[in-house]
Amino acid sequence: EELSFSIEQIEKGGFPHFMIKEIFEQPESIQNTIRGRIYFENGSGRIQLGGLADYLDRLASAKRFIFCACGTSWHASLVGEYLFEHFTRIPVCVEYASEFRYRNPIIYKDDIVFFISQSGETADTLAALKEAKSKGALTIGICNVVGSSISRETECGVYIHAGPEIGVASTKAFTSQVITLSLIALAIASKRGEISTKLITEYLHELNSIPKKIQNLLSQNSIMQEIAKEFNNASNFLYLGRGFNFPVALEGALKLKEISYIHAEGYPAAELKHGPIALIDEFMPVVFIAIKDSLYPKIISNIEEIKARGGRIIAIASEGDTNIESLAEYVIRVPQIIDFFSPVLTSIPLQLLAYYIAVLRGCDVDQPRNLAKSVTVE
Ligand code: G6P
Repeated sequence: EELSFSIEQIEKGGFPHFMIKEIFEQPESIQNTIRGRIYFENGSGRIQLGGLADYLDRLASAKRFIFCACGTSWHASLVGEYLFEHFTRIPVCVEYASEFRYRNPIIYKDDIVFFISQSGETADTLAALKEAKSKGALTIGICNVVGSSISRETECGVYIHAGPEIGVASTKAFTSQVITLSLIALAIASKRGEISTKLITEYLHELNSIPKKIQNLLSQNSIMQEIAKEFNNASNFLYLGRGFNFPVALEGALKLKEISYIHAEGYPAAELKHGPIALIDEFMPVVFIAIKDSLYPKIISNIEEIKARGGRIIAIASEGDTNIESLAEYVIRVPQIIDFFSPVLTSIPLQLLAYYIAVLRGCDVDQPRNLAKSVTVE
């Protein structure tokens, strides 16, 4: 008898696609992002980022940060903007690398420009990096691929250590990028004295608890399969979130577009009334990220607006939120987490939803049409 396994089958480790393997790897990939970077001494938490150690003073006295990226990395950068501004109180501009590079961007010598890229090879991001360097700014790489062009050409940086990502649609790199940006934001805030040791310690414990919470979340994937069955014939989807979860709405919509070819849009939920609400009818599934944070009452009233117009509601909600069941047709429960770290949890059901819908539609999940894993040409 002949044993014939392709290398690819072995690499997929029993999963039918790389994408689902990578989604399920997230407890581990996030552990790898954190490993060796969080320490507790006599009960106090401390962050150590070797790649930035020599630059921490400059980072802490920066007047402004610019984040440059494309695609999913751009969405992670948007979460990063919320995190950085929340913790460091230093302003952040998030830029599409492709736009930034061509508009003769205003970059000051004391600007600090971050380049966020899974592959470290994206042509537009690399070109934006060259532009920022030529204008004398300090450049920092946040890459996954070790030794990639962006990691080599930036002055310093932090690897996200998510491990190889093969599926074209980025999943585990997104969550590891967000975790990395959280660590950097906290390190800068601590250096600036914007945050007490007690709070840093609390937040670092919270970061450490994330892999376990993701494990819990992944164990509910059968509900995502059920939702996928119900909605895989939809022609449009709307994703709505607010605050830290607004970028997650964008990312959820991107995942669905990329691999299932269903048209989807992400919006900040309060923008609904300025246009997208006109699209709502009984054929429009609306995915709300509605966890219990300071904006919860606001998003509940957004959900009510959709319900009143017959839209079909899928809610990503906090564990223990019983109120939301009367509003949403489907509810996915996310473990309790401090609001600013919630995107690493709330994005995961959306990755699963896109995946299961794409599979039901017979799409090539790992190699979607017209897309490339790394876009090294313009
Ligand atoms: C391509 C990929 C996306 C990715 C984007 C940016 O479009 O299909 O998944 O988010 O490039 O890639 P980067 O490697 O720079 O993060």
